[in-house]
Amino acid sequence: GRPELGEVEGILLPKATCSEWSRIQSFQARPDDLLICTYPKAGTTWIQEIVDMIQQEGDLDKCQRAPLHHRHPFVEWARPPQPSELGPSGVDQAKALPSPRTLKTHLPVKLLPPSFWEQNCKFLYVARNAKDCMVSYYHFQRMSKVLPDPGSWPEYFQTFMAGRVGWGPWYNHVKGWWKAKDSHCVLFLFYEDMKEDPKREIRKVMQFMGKYLDETTLDKVVHHTSFEIMKDNHMVNRAGVPLTIMDQSISPFMRKGTVGDWKNHFTVAQNEIFDIDYKNKMVDTSLTFRMEL
Ligand code: A3P
Repeated sequence: GRPELGEVEGILLPKATCSEWSRIQSFQARPDDLLICTYPKAGTTWIQEIVDMIQQEGDLDKCQRAPLHHRHPFVEWARPPQPSELGPSGVDQAKALPSPRTLKTHLPVKLLPPSFWEQNCKFLYVARNAKDCMVSYYHFQRMSKVLPDPGSWPEYFQTFMAGRVGWGPWYNHVKGWWKAKDSHCVLFLFYEDMKEDPKREIRKVMQFMGKYLDETTLDKVVHHTSFEIMKDNHMVNRAGVPLTIMDQSISPFMRKGTVGDWKNHFTVAQNEIFDIDYKNKMVDTSLTFRMEL
């Protein structure tokens, strides 16, 4: 059977993460850490590859040095009790990395290890509209063996709106990080903007990282990080991840990579219910999303 999730401060998280929580909370950040922050399925893999390509100044071979999920330690990834194909915990992987490090997290603001704030790290947040996130998360939970079974689409629709999914409600996640940018060094990007004009958004990332690539190299980064190229790149498409962790014959990790796929899933009635609930949950923020391009 599929594993259940555990809970920390009302936020659902993988059980292993919950049992290692005190170690994760005492994570020691370094001032030159760059932390990639996302709600699950918002475009984490995409921004990771962009950041790595910029760091490696467009050197493909250097980016291909390891599968992407091994290049940037996942802060709250705790090694499950049984031997794991995914290697040491995120905390241990991060400790072993020389500075400057790039790390990844899905944690909401309120659960982030305090050291990241204290060390004044750079945060790169990617947000994706709730409807496409829900659809992408649903398909991911269908094929992921480390998260609960999502049930039917109508069931998952309710589960997601109630925030009863891993890493908690989408709504508080995006609002929390949007607010954090007023007091911390946060570059806040949108998946939809990245789809619309990847070059423009990659330039923002470069500037934020203080890396300046020439036009030819920038074009190379744009090309290499397009969905079409990434879906066939075995170093990013999780091709090597064993069937006990994900079964990509059910739904590929690089699934569709578009804006507006929710229209193929939401019924008219669901859309109405969703919009009313959304409006209530998002009244207290200036943050807005595009649901289509
Ligand atoms: P879909 O399921 O809608 O296709 P994450 O990396 O945070 O898990 O997010 C996964 C989502 O980002 C998936 O969305 C995936 O296809 C999409 N994605 C991955 N690489 C992408 C790229 N280069 N361009 C656009 N979307 C990408």
